[in-house]
Amino acid sequence: MTEFRILRYDPDKDKEPHFQTYTFDSPKGMTVLEGLIYIFENIDSTLAYRSMCRGAVCGSCGMHINGLYNLACRTQIDNLGGKVVLRPLAHLPIIKDLVVDLEPFWEQYKKVQPYLIPKQDPPEKEYLQSEKDRKKLDPWVDCILCAACYGSCPVEATDPEYLGPASLMKALRFIDDSRDGKTKDRLAFVATDFGVFRCHTIFNCQKVCPKTLDPTKAIAKLKMKALFG
Ligand code: SF4
Ligand code: F3S
Repeated sequence: MTEFRILRYDPDKDKEPHFQTYTFDSPKGMTVLEGLIYIFENIDSTLAYRSMCRGAVCGSCGMHINGLYNLACRTQIDNLGGKVVLRPLAHLPIIKDLVVDLEPFWEQYKKVQPYLIPKQDPPEKEYLQSEKDRKKLDPWVDCILCAACYGSCPVEATDPEYLGPASLMKALRFIDDSRDGKTKDRLAFVATDFGVFRCHTIFNCQKVCPKTLDPTKAIAKLKMKALFG
């Protein structure tokens, strides 16, 4: 039998969060997300969780799984020793059970202007970039905005103004882009107390990223650029 202990909380009804336990037989190969779907469809349809693609692409099912933030869809139950403990992402208001309000995460993300601001007038067809310049962006482009890094970062717990690992890595993605014209402004914006210098190099973001990205390295690179150009 597999045991799922899930932190449940309905702000409209509950005074405080509490754990609820569900047990069922999980076939080999079942993921944590499939376990949640099984519970919802067969045991308790009041359970709330968020998911969409089921393939580690959309980033919707980020949560705290047996001590680490991860995507439920890419976590095999068999690898958790038959006991699964789930909590919602931290530092974000709980809407219900495992569903959090991601607005604070998006607010920080919007601040870094996560889109290309071209340095030249629009060309007739497209902004060209050499293969070498495009390659530079490889380490920073695969973020799926799951907010696992945001939930794992202890600085976010005490300072909601901190831009956070995903937003800072996104800032670097455009600072390193040969087509972008706002490099100096972007650098000035992240080189502040709520930006890169608020990071304590705790590495949690690097440890949990389900896409094996390295926001810690991105932030270190931004610090160097901010200090030495
Ligand atoms: Fe998720 Fe990784 Fe992007 Fe953070 S950097 S939001 S952990 S994919
Ligand atoms: Fe937080 Fe990652 Fe820095 S966990 S403190 S953003 S290295």
